[in-house]
Amino acid sequence: MSSQFFFLGATGYIGSQFLESAKRDAALYAKLKEFTLVALVRDPESAKSKQLQEVWPGVALVKGTLDDLSLIEEQARNSALTFNAANADHEPSIKAIVTGLQKRSADNPSGPKPLYIHTSGLGILSDNSRGEKVPAERLVHHSDTTFKLEDFPATNPHHSPDRIIHAAGAQKENPIRAISVYPGAVYGLGEGITPDALLPRVFSSLYIHTGVAGTWGPGHNALGVIHIKDVGSAFVKIFKLALEGKAQDDYFITDDKAEPLVLKRFAEEVAKVLHAHDLLKDPEHKPFPEATINHLGELAWSVLGGNSQGISDRLKAEGWEPTETAKLSLWGSLPLEVEHFAATYKASKT
Ligand SMILES: NC(=O)c1ccc[n+]([C@@H]2O[C@H](COP(=O)([O-])OP(=O)(O)OC[C@H]3O[C@@H](n4cnc5c(N)ncnc54)[C@H](OP(=O)(O)O)[C@@H]3O)[C@@H](O)[C@H]2O)c1
Repeated sequence: MSSQFFFLGATGYIGSQFLESAKRDAALYAKLKEFTLVALVRDPESAKSKQLQEVWPGVALVKGTLDDLSLIEEQARNSALTFNAANADHEPSIKAIVTGLQKRSADNPSGPKPLYIHTSGLGILSDNSRGEKVPAERLVHHSDTTFKLEDFPATNPHHSPDRIIHAAGAQKENPIRAISVYPGAVYGLGEGITPDALLPRVFSSLYIHTGVAGTWGPGHNALGVIHIKDVGSAFVKIFKLALEGKAQDDYFITDDKAEPLVLKRFAEEVAKVLHAHDLLKDPEHKPFPEATINHLGELAWSVLGGNSQGISDRLKAEGWEPTETAKLSLWGSLPLEVEHFAATYKASKT
């Protein structure tokens, strides 16, 4: 009987890129084909689910959402390997995964530790500068060789779910292996089922909805960036290390000191394109009014109003190179991505 690989977020921007990148790596593809892939999908009849069946013949689709906790726990319990690329911060589903894996470990105490690979985010490193200018000497690129969760405020983005995951990873009783991966702001056209990057999608919609090309505070803060194809190749490397037993309870940053995303410039560049398409009247950047961002909460302030930049020394030592990020910068890619968003948005309104 083959082992089960449970995948949450297989149709998403990062998740579906991972499948394409994994298929190109003969050794990993052969290894993953030894598992039965079980994907959580909201609608097994959707176009994306159908595409998933073409991308990965034999995939079993399980209908559910991140709120179907007993289903998620049961699938994790049945799985030697669980990969979450659905949501870094949905704590109930993350707890359900961890509980399922711990139960699997208890069911089979002499077997291999169940493996959990979790997509977190670089916002964990936020300095919470509230969009203000920070002197260059105080801007830190954190390396994953020295990264420790406890070095960052417990209120920082992703901290709480990552604590839950790694507390389980550190337990002697019913042990699991837990790996957190921290991508920066991911950009570029992906090769998977969802090719469009999350940030231009979310920000363009927000600017259109509010009529403001806004930032959290003045927008001088910078986020590390990484091209989606390099995220795919980073996960390939991490899966191989994990499946070979070379990564245990671990943290990997996927970022490489590329020119970062400065929020103010990002707002200006996105607004320029939306304005040209008559989707935004005023292309001038401004800090969002309090009323707009208050309901998005402190977490959004921390992710989008802080500096968070990392260096992936772990992956680089393993031979990973972010070659696509070097070829096409965020700023070279962004206008094309927003053009694509604008065309899709207008088509959806006709
Ligand atoms: N993109 C980035 O820049 C970035 C950077 C750092 C960290 N991350 C983390 O990585 C996660 C994935 O990012 P992404 O860009 O790949 O996002 P995405 O394109 O929106 O993909 C999310 C995936 O999760 C599934 N999903 C979302 N909510 C669900 C729910 N309630 N129930 C079941 N399935 C659900 C989606 O299914 P459908 O196909 O049905 O929508 C899709 O497969 C993010 O949520 C974030 O936490 C992202």
